[in-house]
Amino acid sequence: MPKKIIAGNWKMFKTNPEAVRLVKQLNQKLKRSPAKKSSVVIFPPFTALSKVSDELKGSKIETGAQNLFWEEEGAYTGEVSAKMIKSTGAKWVIIGHSERRQYFKEEEKIINRKIKIALLNKLKVIFCVGETLEMREQNLTKDIVINQVEWGLKGLLPEHLKNLVIAYEPVWAIGTGKTATPKQAQEIHALIRDILVPLFNEKTSRNMTILYGGSVKPNNAAGLFAQKDIDGALVGGACLKADSFYRIIKAGEKSF
Ligand code: PGA
Repeated sequence: MPKKIIAGNWKMFKTNPEAVRLVKQLNQKLKRSPAKKSSVVIFPPFTALSKVSDELKGSKIETGAQNLFWEEEGAYTGEVSAKMIKSTGAKWVIIGHSERRQYFKEEEKIINRKIKIALLNKLKVIFCVGETLEMREQNLTKDIVINQVEWGLKGLLPEHLKNLVIAYEPVWAIGTGKTATPKQAQEIHALIRDILVPLFNEKTSRNMTILYGGSVKPNNAAGLFAQKDIDGALVGGACLKADSFYRIIKAGEKSF
């Protein structure tokens, strides 16, 4: 059975005091009523990563970074390495998010390098894939997703994938309030699971955690989580308030 995960991507929100306030509220809620069926991971901005990780010491909530650089270290002004991320206490990193693809021109080869350096440094990876509206309208969704998965995971072995989860995030659903229907999401999740068999093996495919992302909210989470191949969510907007993120975690408790 794939591990269930509810992840919250804070994007470029929250100053340090705001970050600490949010994580305290979330932690309190989860202390009172812990998530038993899923793991909770949050992705604050780099600037708050140490503080938030410290705040969560002793709790079950894990932390991660929203990006990293593909080299171990060097003269790369403004970039952040896997080791720096690990030294904050974070265990995870998001790679290939559509906003990085779109605004920072990150393409498949870069994403593949980032995944490799993260795994080499024992950071767990959320690897994001997904089509734009244009691609969907041209009926290219499946080709695009297959291509992104193949490229992103090039050169990896089945054992590497134990520390990687895939997030299917249709770009047209991110931050737009337009969620994919459970059926639309399930179709692509099943496709991703299918293509992992020839690329790796049956077991890797069966055990792969595949998250859905794109306007997941407390009122639509349960329908998504009820799908066979949806193993949790990567939440954006709705994770910026403790209450709505917590309600999504609770939807997982009921559905998984
Ligand atoms: P959203 O973001 O929930 O605000 O649509 C999801 C994501 O970008 O991971």
